[in-house]
Amino acid sequence: MAQMSGAMGSFIAAHDGSAFADTSYVASAMLADLDAHHRVACTFASLSDDQAEASRHADVIASYAAHVYDRCGQMIGGLDGRGYTWGPMMTGCGGTWGGSSGDPVGLGEPIFDWGIGTDGQPIVRSGGFGMMMSGCAGCHGSDGHGLRTMMFTTPNITYPNLADPLGMREPDGSRGPTYTDDLIRRAVVEGIGADGERLDIAMPRWQMSDEDWDDLLLFLKTLR
Ligand code: HEC
Repeated sequence: MAQMSGAMGSFIAAHDGSAFADTSYVASAMLADLDAHHRVACTFASLSDDQAEASRHADVIASYAAHVYDRCGQMIGGLDGRGYTWGPMMTGCGGTWGGSSGDPVGLGEPIFDWGIGTDGQPIVRSGGFGMMMSGCAGCHGSDGHGLRTMMFTTPNITYPNLADPLGMREPDGSRGPTYTDDLIRRAVVEGIGADGERLDIAMPRWQMSDEDWDDLLLFLKTLR
């Protein structure tokens, strides 16, 4: 967060260090970068320049998102290191609504939604489209049921579908292989499907810690 901390610090100080000021600062910074990205996106002569800009934009957004996630953790704690009070205790970020911040299911949710691990940092990945700051939700939908877009079609990755003994339902309605917990992990980390086939490179390979994986799996099991 080095690139933004100075300006952000004074902005927050000018607003009594309120969590709202911080979050709104970051929200406008994210919007500004999105705007900047929109102005230049697809104006480059070559696809690779376009991709470079897209990936720059994704990195910026990822760093802001990680910051908000950190801040969220501090709000749960009630205080940050400088003694700011962040107002009423929040149930958010690390916790599913009603869950506690140490709730592993809740910890899996930011991974699913934003690709942000329990250390508050974006999980390193390769593949995907390079341009997406997203967790699983960005490509598989916020309910995990899969998406059909102009660029890609993704399967339903809810646990009951993946682990269906009759074989998972593919996006075209046909039956595929049945996943176990370990096979889902292999798909996520190594990009190898339950049938041993290499998954399309559009599916990122995630360098996930054991802890992040455990949390993500628990969260996947809550999706229906
Ligand atoms: C950038 C888009 C993208 C993101 C982000 C993404 N996926 Fe995927 N995923 C795909 C695509 C596309 C496929 C289909 C690949 C294929 O059929 O070869 C896929 C396939 C899968 C499969 C294999 C299902 C099958 O058909 O055998 C699993 C499991 C999966 N994704 C889980 C996840 C999880 C968990 C996350 C988050 C940690 C995630 N994906 C994030 C695009 C994505």
